Amino acid sequence: MKIAVYPGSFDPITNGHLDIIERGAKVFDELIVAVLVNVEKKGLFNVDERVKLIEKVTKNYKNVKVESFNGLLIDFMKEKNANVILKGLRAVSDFEYEFQMALMNNKLDPEVETVFMMTNAQYSYLSSSAVKQVAKFGGCIKELVPDEIIPDVIKKIKGE
Ligand code: PNS
Repeated sequence: MKIAVYPGSFDPITNGHLDIIERGAKVFDELIVAVLVNVEKKGLFNVDERVKLIEKVTKNYKNVKVESFNGLLIDFMKEKNANVILKGLRAVSDFEYEFQMALMNNKLDPEVETVFMMTNAQYSYLSSSAVKQVAKFGGCIKELVPDEIIPDVIKKIKGE
């Protein structure tokens, strides 16, 4: 059984992330979306909220699970018996950082492979931080994040 882990901050999940999840779920037997618990970086949503938002928009994918992890990704992979890291690549600017992480993870555990999927061109400009900025200044976030979570994002940005 091929288990892949799709790690990230997901603060919040965007349509770009969801596109990778949908495609990844078709390629792997099981896909674990893993939200990083980063104590140094306070996000808009806390980790439990991020997990819940991802669960809300992936509930129809039977082979997708959502979890959180802290520490090294490679340790989480071992715990889950997974040996593929799935990442999305948007633009050349992503490459350097992703290349470094893939090599580091492979050095930490040579059994682990990182598989990259090219982001759908439609979402190549999209990032969680851009969504937060647009929402903060009252811009429209339709088509940037899944419809089901638009009210959650707006409410959170307004501090309600
Ligand atoms: O969505 P992001 O913020 O680009 O995701 C980054 C993430 C979570 C994939 C990365 O920070 C990560 O894997 N962190 C865990 C720490 C780790 O394993 N570091 C070693 C690889 S350099």
